[in-house]
Amino acid sequence: MAIRDIITYPHPVLRQVAESVTNLDGKIQALIDDMAETMYSAPGVGLAANQVGVPVQVIVMDASEKDRPRELIAVINPLIVACEGKIVNEEGCLSLIDFRADIGRYKRVTVKGLDRNGTPIELDKEGLPAVVLQHEIDHLNGILLIDRVSRLKRELYIRRLKKVLMKQASRTR
Ligand code: NI
Repeated sequence: MAIRDIITYPHPVLRQVAESVTNLDGKIQALIDDMAETMYSAPGVGLAANQVGVPVQVIVMDASEKDRPRELIAVINPLIVACEGKIVNEEGCLSLIDFRADIGRYKRVTVKGLDRNGTPIELDKEGLPAVVLQHEIDHLNGILLIDRVSRLKRELYIRRLKKVLMKQASRTR
């Protein structure tokens, strides 16, 4: 297992639509292990494979409460098959430096996919775990939080981020 670098916006891999996994081999299982380790060390509650630079349909998440045992969930080729209700929650993203926003989501989702061994699974989640699932599945479709806020908020963020990145670049020169 290894911690991988988390890719940040505006890297183009975050905009790529992830390919579905057709050959579940050791490479995918190693990817899942690395993604879990990367997520826990960040720390974050979810991670999509695009975020470590591999545009395939794999997500990991752990939305368990603090001081509770870990509840790692990995889903290959996740697909939302049912949804219900509405919820607004403040979200951030490991790929968006210094960005948080209230995002509207479905309150409850049912997701089908495969577990790390290729066994079909169905998850029925409500509240935070449902939000995380939707957030990570967005990543697999090349969608970021900044696409789910107003144009003004998005433009302000991009302007602010450019300044931050320019400052970082001049520091490393
Ligand atoms: Ni994210």
